[in-house]
Amino acid sequence: MADQPVSKNIVRAEGRVTGADRASNFGHASKTVWFTGLSGSGKSTLAFAVEEALVAQGVAAYVLDGDNVRFGLNRDLGFAPEDRTENIRRIGEVCRLFQDAGLIVLTAFVSPYQADRDAVRALHPEGAFVEVFVDTPIEVCEARDVKGLYAKARAGEIPEFTGISAPYEAPEQPEIRVDTSRPLEVCVAEIVQSLGIDPS
Ligand code: ADX
Repeated sequence: MADQPVSKNIVRAEGRVTGADRASNFGHASKTVWFTGLSGSGKSTLAFAVEEALVAQGVAAYVLDGDNVRFGLNRDLGFAPEDRTENIRRIGEVCRLFQDAGLIVLTAFVSPYQADRDAVRALHPEGAFVEVFVDTPIEVCEARDVKGLYAKARAGEIPEFTGISAPYEAPEQPEIRVDTSRPLEVCVAEIVQSLGIDPS
């Protein structure tokens, strides 16, 4: 995918309200909180629980979830490497818009490639992208097999399944690493505290 628009005949428009103006109306910082990890690692569970905790404190938070987005915006994409890259590119752009709009946007995507996650980080202002590694070992994800996908992948019914027949590149320097062998509430409290979002 080229970095430049296909058309040469478009020009950026600038509003007079800044991202900082919008964030200050909400009364808290605006950030993209990017959960990455294997299928079944607990990304969605954590993201939704953090959203709940933040909204209860009056924070404007919203979750973008991998499976959900693949029913709509990204329903034309599969799981080949180039499709995953395009999946993350589009979501990254949506995150940057939400973050610029003043929200805390939480995402739950496998996002297996470091380069794709780094490209999303690069769209954001310094400090506005928080990478959260949901560090659940594959043995645990496979033992849980909530959606029955690992069994299908082992049986050869799902090609290019992350962790089985497709790679997962663990974050090199995540802002937050979550050890999910601990209770959910402990993980959520730790993430909320690390985010340092102080609603006024
Ligand atoms: S990503 O790799 O492009 O970031 P995404 O998070 O959108 O993946 O979707 C992953 C979800 O799709 C998994 O939680 C799982 O439920 C499902 N899925 C279906 N096929 C695959 C596959 N081949 N690899 C990984 N996840 C898959």
